Amino acid sequence: MAMSNLQSPGGMESSLDLFSTPLSKPASSRLPRATLTNTPMVGAQHDSFPCYQFSFDIQAHYDEDISDADKVYQECMQDGPLSFEDCIPPERMKRCSKIGEGTFGEVFSTINDSNQTVALKIIPVEGCQKVNSEPQKTFGEILHEIIISKELSSLNSKEKTKTNGFIRLNNLHCVRGCYPSALLKAWDKFDQEKGSENDRPDFFSEEQLFLILEFEFGGSDLENMNGKLSSMTQAKSILHQVTAALAVAEHALCFEHRDLHWGNILVKTTKQKNNEFILNGSVHSIETRGVHVNIIDYSLSRLEIDGLTVSCDIANDEELFMGQGDYQFEIYRLMRKENNNCWSEYNPRSNVLWLHYLADKLLAMRYKTKPQSSQQKAVKSSLQTFCSEILNYSSATHALLHCRLFN
Ligand SMILES: Nc1ncnc2c1ncn2[C@@H]1O[C@H](COP(=O)(O)OP(=O)(O)O)[C@@H](O)[C@H]1O
Ligand SMILES: [Mg+2]
Repeated sequence: MAMSNLQSPGGMESSLDLFSTPLSKPASSRLPRATLTNTPMVGAQHDSFPCYQFSFDIQAHYDEDISDADKVYQECMQDGPLSFEDCIPPERMKRCSKIGEGTFGEVFSTINDSNQTVALKIIPVEGCQKVNSEPQKTFGEILHEIIISKELSSLNSKEKTKTNGFIRLNNLHCVRGCYPSALLKAWDKFDQEKGSENDRPDFFSEEQLFLILEFEFGGSDLENMNGKLSSMTQAKSILHQVTAALAVAEHALCFEHRDLHWGNILVKTTKQKNNEFILNGSVHSIETRGVHVNIIDYSLSRLEIDGLTVSCDIANDEELFMGQGDYQFEIYRLMRKENNNCWSEYNPRSNVLWLHYLADKLLAMRYKTKPQSSQQKAVKSSLQTFCSEILNYSSATHALLHCRLFN
């Protein structure tokens, strides 16, 4: 992709693309697609489905009284849409492979200018055709996805409160045109090998707009890592890294992820022995055990910037709270119980609930080596202890500082 500098006006988004797997696949991290009959509204109330709430005027973060489209172009540092070819030159287009999908977007890997592997999340916007049975996102909704991704990405370059546990956003562009044939080819390959729940994106006209978010390649999501992690020692590092990232974001942004299922936790191998983070000015280190974790997908997330709150009101999204078949779905109900269905307020207990879910998942996952040595058995037992204790904590920060597993 052509380079542009990222500017963050401060704010965030939430997008509603977690609702998509049929109930016949209860263990899937995606909720039933049938539940998503609406798109979220920005700054507006609606009777029966999630809507974004902003306790501030996002307009105030931009120079003039400009349209959402202009704000998105401003974020992309563009005057108008580019072509796919301008954005993804032929040699990079040829190297695209599809690596993931959500209801609103397709995710492809390729290489960037610096020959690094990156993930391109391609989201159709503003069109009137439904995609995957859902209306397309508007510029306003996309704007908030852009802003929250930037806020969390930028925690990697702060001095006193720093983490590299949230996926880095490198670049973003808005393009116009039909879906490129190379991407359709990559889409078909994924469909043949893994099966897609999405519509083949071959029906878009030349007028269709897309947002392309270029993220660092974060590895495989935990759902796809089942049976691929070497041992519970790696699981322990994953749990520690996620807890630390959440704690830093709690501290910096009063952040709650609110949808931290195993499809939204990426894991990749690393040669670095330690992963550093900075909490309140003090530097801490975590043994990586060969894995690096990145948190993605802020669909339901909540944060504050300069005292301004941004959240997604899911109070009336009844079906979100009706899921069955996996502990994930229980977590939405437990969060609601904790916050009395008030989604604008800060309640970092939600992060604790997701950590309990994660510990439970990590204990249930398959590993290349079974815990046979006494050392491995001790790690498993410490994870079990964590699982039974974590719900006593009030936040990820509290857990990070006091849990025996991390000390
Ligand atoms: N930066 C990334 N690196 C590697 N894989 C990614 C990346 N971003 C997304 N993916 C893959 O694509 C899937 C869908 O992306 P996600 O952002 O969670 O979309 P959605 O919001 O639609 O759920 C993820 O579960 C993951 O498998
Ligand atoms: Mg997701």
